[in-house]
Amino acid sequence: MRVLVLGGTTEARQLYGLLEQQAARFRTTVSLAGVTRAPVLPALDVRIGGFGGAEGLREWLLAHRTDAVVDATHPFATRISGNAVRACMQAHVPLLRVERPGWTPVAGDRWTIVPDMEAAARALGTAPRRVLLTVGRKDLLPFASARPHDWLLRSVDQPDAGLLPPGCRVLLARGPFDEAGEEALLRHERIDVVVTKNSGGSATYAKLAAARRLGVAVIMVARPPVAAAQTVADATAAMAWLDGLHAHGAATLRDV
Ligand SMILES: NC(=O)c1ccc[n+]([C@@H]2O[C@H](COP(=O)([O-])OP(=O)(O)OC[C@H]3O[C@@H](n4cnc5c(N)ncnc54)[C@H](OP(=O)(O)O)[C@@H]3O)[C@@H](O)[C@H]2O)c1
Repeated sequence: MRVLVLGGTTEARQLYGLLEQQAARFRTTVSLAGVTRAPVLPALDVRIGGFGGAEGLREWLLAHRTDAVVDATHPFATRISGNAVRACMQAHVPLLRVERPGWTPVAGDRWTIVPDMEAAARALGTAPRRVLLTVGRKDLLPFASARPHDWLLRSVDQPDAGLLPPGCRVLLARGPFDEAGEEALLRHERIDVVVTKNSGGSATYAKLAAARRLGVAVIMVARPPVAAAQTVADATAAMAWLDGLHAHGAATLRDV
């Protein structure tokens, strides 16, 4: 079976690991957007860069005689997920979305939940605060015009200087992060508010547990709506879906 995995997440990497063991049954291509400068690459076919919208993706699926697509992109990567829904529908290719559950607040959390980055910037208010920004490089624009705060951005890659809020310092780091380290960072930097999107998952949850322990406020950007598709929560369930399709395909061949 020819499988396309739209990647760029922890769940996608877990799925590559499972598919690497199944090379006899699944010929897998992993697709990455090309936004991370040094991505962790699997031992599978990898293609990098956009397809050219839903139409380009549809053409790619047909040209590569793709049997199934797993969209394991980030919950905030809504364009590629919408394109996957449209392209798979048009090309009659089964599609599964892997979406890790979002985070929910527990007792002691001091979250302000906002719908988007602009609202997150507004929610910081007008009094100067010490802000830890853990949003993506392309999410920075709304903060550039926010009131002067003391900014620390944590990012996997160095962002363009022009995108940064004035005076923003950058901490280059790639998760997973642990709670002790996150608590030390919040204390050392005297952070009083963390801005994050509701990515979900365990790799970057520790900052929220540390914020809770220290009484630090969190501005949580809620997940954007995404085009509907059959969805599972993790790589194991995605592998089971692929196994089911494979078994069905084998049974269909036996019946011919
Ligand atoms: N957004 C986040 O917070 C976030 C966080 C962690 C990781 N990521 C990962 O980073 C990548 C880009 O995220 P984004 O938010 O920029 O996505 P996006 O806004 O949904 O996509 C923008 C464009 O990038 C291309 N693209 C995105 N993912 C792709 C993939 N896996 N393979 C090939 N092309 C892809 C598509 O271009 P064409 O229309 O030309 O095909 C898409 O229209 C995704 O793979 C995502 O899983 C995103």
